Amino acid sequence: TDTSADALRTPIVAVLGHVDHGKTSLLDKIRGSAVIEGEAGAITQHIGATAVPLDVVSDMAGELVDPDDFDLPGLLFIDTPGHHSFTTLRSRGGALADIAVLVVDVNDGFQPQTLEAINILQNTQTPFIVAANKVDTVPGWNPNEDSPIKPSYDAQSDRVRGDLDDRLYAIIGELSDQGFSADMYWRVQDFQNNIGVVPVSAMTGEGVPDLLAVMMGLSQRYMKEEMAIDVDGPGVGTVLEVKEERGFGTTVDIVLYDGTIHEDDTIVVGGENQPIVTEVRALLQPRPLAEIRTESRFEQVESVGAAAGIKVAAPDLDEAMAGAPIRVVGDRDLDEVIEEVRAEL
Ligand code: GTP
Ligand code: MG
Repeated sequence: TDTSADALRTPIVAVLGHVDHGKTSLLDKIRGSAVIEGEAGAITQHIGATAVPLDVVSDMAGELVDPDDFDLPGLLFIDTPGHHSFTTLRSRGGALADIAVLVVDVNDGFQPQTLEAINILQNTQTPFIVAANKVDTVPGWNPNEDSPIKPSYDAQSDRVRGDLDDRLYAIIGELSDQGFSADMYWRVQDFQNNIGVVPVSAMTGEGVPDLLAVMMGLSQRYMKEEMAIDVDGPGVGTVLEVKEERGFGTTVDIVLYDGTIHEDDTIVVGGENQPIVTEVRALLQPRPLAEIRTESRFEQVESVGAAAGIKVAAPDLDEAMAGAPIRVVGDRDLDEVIEEVRAEL
C-alpha cells in the first residue's frame, strides 16, 4: 500500500480496571506527570485522553521499541474511572478503543469492575493485554527504576519471584475462568488469540517499557488495515465532557476517532433535546502528553486528524451531552448527518 505515515490513524488505547488498581498512575508514569494529584479524592470521575507521540513511546521502551519498525504516529490513551458508579463511562471508553489495557492489582486480583471491564471488551471484541500492576508491593521486592520487567524479575530473590508468580498465575487462572487463554506476555506468540500478562509497577516504572512495546506491536500487527482509514474524510467523534472555557463559552472535549475536523466546519452534535447544528469556531489542542481533562494551556489549531483528544469551541453547545456523537458534515447532505446523530443518541 502507499499510505504515508500521516495517513495512518493513531490507535486508541483504553485503560480499564477496578477502582484504585492504578490506571491513572500508569498513565502518569507514561506522561511523566501526576494527574491523580489533581483528582478529587484521587478517584477518576471522567474519561480522559492523552496523546503519546511515537518518539516518547520509543524513548520509554528503550531497546524494546525501534521507532523505525513502526509507522504509527503514537498512541492515544483513554483513561476511565474504576469506581462502580461509572459503568457508562467505562463502556464508552471500551467502545472507543482499538485495543485496551486491563489493569489488575497483583495483590487484589480480579474484582467486580475487572470482570465488568472484561465483559465490555468481550462485547466490543477489543483485543487487550493485562497489566499486572504494583509488583513493587511484593514483600522484599528490589526495585529497578524504569527497567524492562524480565531482567528485574530475574534479579529478585527466589522467594520474591515465587510470591509474584503465585499472584500472576492467580490472574492467569481468573482469565481462564472467563474463557481466555492467557500467559506471561513473553511466552505469547499470537496476541490475537492469547492474552499477554505484563507485570508492571506504575510506581517504579518497571515493566512499562514492555507494556508500551506490546501495545505498539498489537496495534501494528492486528490493526494496520483498520488504521489506514481515510483520515481526510469528515471527522467523527464522541463527546467526553461539556465545559465552560474562558473566552470561548461552552465547549466540548471530544475524542475524534475517524476523519478530520477543521475550523469553520459545520458540525452536528448530540444534544439534550435534539441534534445541534453549529459551526466550529476554534479547535483547541492539548500539548503532547497532556491530559485533556486537566490541561489549561491549549494550542489553537486549524485542523486535527483522528485519533485525537480535542476541545471544540462553537456557538450553541449548551445542550450538548457527554457521550453524544459529533459529526462533521463536510460535503455530505446535512439532513442525513442529523439523522445519523439522532440515531446514535
Ligand atoms: P480510579 O481512577 O479511581 O479507578 O483509580 P486508578 O485505577 O486510576 O488508581 P490510581 O492510579 O488513582 O492509584 C490508586 C492508588 O494506588 C494510588 O494511591 C497510587 O499511588 C497507588 N498505586 C498505583 N500504582 C501503584 C504501583 O505500581 N505501586 C504502588 N506501590 N502503588 C501504586
Ligand atoms: Mg484513575
